[in-house]
Amino acid sequence: MLATVQTCAVVGLDGYIVQVEVDISQALPAFNIVGLPDTAVQEARERVRAALRNSGCEFPMRRITVNLAPADLKKAGPAYDLPIAVAIALASQQAEPLPGAAVFLGELSLDGSLRHTTGILPMVSVAREQGVGAVFVPTADASEASLVEGIQVYPVTSLPGLLAHLRGQDSLAPQEPVSDLTDAGDGGATGANLAYVKGQEHAKRALEIAAAGFHNLLFSGPPGSGKTLLARCLPSILPPMTTDEALQVTKIYSVSGALPPDRPMIRERPFRAPHYTISNAGLVGGGRNPRPGEITLSHRGVLFLDELPEFNHVALEALRQPLEDKVVTISRANGTVSYPASFMLVAAMNPCPCGFHSHPRKECTCSPTTVARYQKRISGPLLDRLDMFVEVPPVEYEKLADGKDAEDSREVRRRVEQAREVQRQRFRDCGFLCNSEMGPAEVWNFCPLEEGAKSLLQAATQQLNLSARAFHRILKLSRTIADLGGAGEIGIGHLAEALQYRSRSAAG
Ligand SMILES: Nc1ncnc2c1ncn2[C@@H]1O[C@H](COP(=O)(O)OP(=O)(O)OP(=O)(O)O)[C@@H](O)[C@H]1O
Ligand SMILES: [Mg+2]
Repeated sequence: MLATVQTCAVVGLDGYIVQVEVDISQALPAFNIVGLPDTAVQEARERVRAALRNSGCEFPMRRITVNLAPADLKKAGPAYDLPIAVAIALASQQAEPLPGAAVFLGELSLDGSLRHTTGILPMVSVAREQGVGAVFVPTADASEASLVEGIQVYPVTSLPGLLAHLRGQDSLAPQEPVSDLTDAGDGGATGANLAYVKGQEHAKRALEIAAAGFHNLLFSGPPGSGKTLLARCLPSILPPMTTDEALQVTKIYSVSGALPPDRPMIRERPFRAPHYTISNAGLVGGGRNPRPGEITLSHRGVLFLDELPEFNHVALEALRQPLEDKVVTISRANGTVSYPASFMLVAAMNPCPCGFHSHPRKECTCSPTTVARYQKRISGPLLDRLDMFVEVPPVEYEKLADGKDAEDSREVRRRVEQAREVQRQRFRDCGFLCNSEMGPAEVWNFCPLEEGAKSLLQAATQQLNLSARAFHRILKLSRTIADLGGAGEIGIGHLAEALQYRSRSAAG
């Protein structure tokens, strides 16, 4: 007796269709799973046996062989429980096969109920792409699955309910599709607001430019000047994600098991602020069974590294490649996976260990060697990848005590959105969204300079000894500044402002 049902596997963020073949033969009782299963898949045997028994089914006392095909694809995780149980029920004639193609996904508990399973969104997406008409998922994940249009999603609470459906006794009701995918959410309106940050106009302007063009930024200044506060205001001025971006981000969170249960779709841009004790694998991704790291979890959003020099040197250096390529590739003995990592890096640091180097009133107690050693913790190549270096000086008493609120984040966000719209129109045929994502060809096409700006750029490149990367980054930053000003050509003022943000890296 043979039965086959379909399920899915996820490698990286990509889903693959997997056939679960079950053969029940007349021989001494045994239950084997083959087809590169990991420990969690092997353990499915115990869960499936108990779940079938506790669902009123007879567990066949024969030789049961489960083959997960294709055999060269590594199968990991507990999502295979449900398809294996269904295939055994079909092979032992305790249920009837469905007329059309269907995919089954989900972890079983011993009593036959279904538990939340990770990676549902990429799995359901691939099922739809392969023309599968129906997918059976745990009830807890049904709203996540229904983000994929064009496939019938059946929420399954327990194995007996599903078996009754397969026997044609008691039909399961399909899930209603999600009504509005384009709802942008509240845009982080509940978090910190720039209105409560006193003074620091220069830093706020830098934050606005960075948000508009998705540029990398470093704040440096004495303790308590508001660096962390400013960075935490960023979510309140970032533009909402497009539906495409939101689906990409939701897939990442689905695979990482970090999707909030009450919200099937992530609509606000990620803002990740890992502590500096984070491991290399935690930051860039990895582990024996590779998992996305913080740089992938901040895809299309912000990675905030507070106290930058305290981070492990190796972990910081590992950011260099993804900062350029916007993707990270992790190779392990059991395979290679790539995760997207298009994030905006925002970092904060003190200028020296005591924090008061170049403070207008306080004396710095560090020796010049100590200051130099502290600043050298961040390598030249990493600094070269940052677009903006912003000094955050201490706030004056008059500004702090000033009762007036500053400009509200909503106002700033409106300007950022306008600049993003200009970029969206400009890059509509290029496959990306922001100025910072331009390659050399696009910089050439989309960053025309006014005459005066050309000679300024020439002088600055020579005087500041700019690298080719810095040269391109300055042009991209000037493009964003010009977009915020509604200008077509990059003027001398736009370029001068961009150069001024660059000065620290050029000084080393
Ligand atoms: N410009 C400001 N306007 C209003 N409050 C401020 C400002 N700067 C700092 N504060 C107050 O000081 C607190 C500490 O600021 P914050 O944590 O941003 O300092 P920091 O620059 O990150 O310091 P450190 O270098 O020690 O990390 C804030 O929570 C806020 O209460
Ligand atoms: Mg801080």
